[in-house]
Amino acid sequence: MGALERCRMIDLPRIADPRGHLTFIEGARHVPFDIARVYYVYGTPEGAERGGHAHRRLEQLVIALTGSFDVLLDDGTQRRTIALDRADRGLYIGTMVWRELARFTAGAVCLVLASLPYDEADYYRDYQEFLRAVRGDR
Ligand code: TYD
Repeated sequence: MGALERCRMIDLPRIADPRGHLTFIEGARHVPFDIARVYYVYGTPEGAERGGHAHRRLEQLVIALTGSFDVLLDDGTQRRTIALDRADRGLYIGTMVWRELARFTAGAVCLVLASLPYDEADYYRDYQEFLRAVRGDR
């Protein structure tokens, strides 16, 4: 299975109530990795793009808590763009997948659950270097 095929949407529970919705995430139940870190991206100006990297070992679950944005996924062989616009659904991104986040709506909040603490050495920030790595050229 290619790295892109391992990426998938994960439905999260939503408790509906006249007072509004409530979604919860339990590590062992809803996330296919142990959660080591949580971060969120917000205040993204119109036209800004984020991501532009891949990870050697990191796995993530990305959720559009508020608003929407697009996630481009690329495993060096195939590309796919997924629009995230629901707080009760997450996009699982496995290892060795290049991602670019774009088209953030005003006020969008992107929540990320991550399998490892932050480590710059885990990043591929150069697309050509990433391609060489996935194609086994080095
Ligand atoms: P980066 O991962 O490049 O952000 P994005 O994928 O959203 O474009 O990170 C941006 C900066 O924040 C970079 O200097 C590293 C730092 N950072 C941390 O210190 N800890 C973290 O958990 C993350 C995700 C980033």
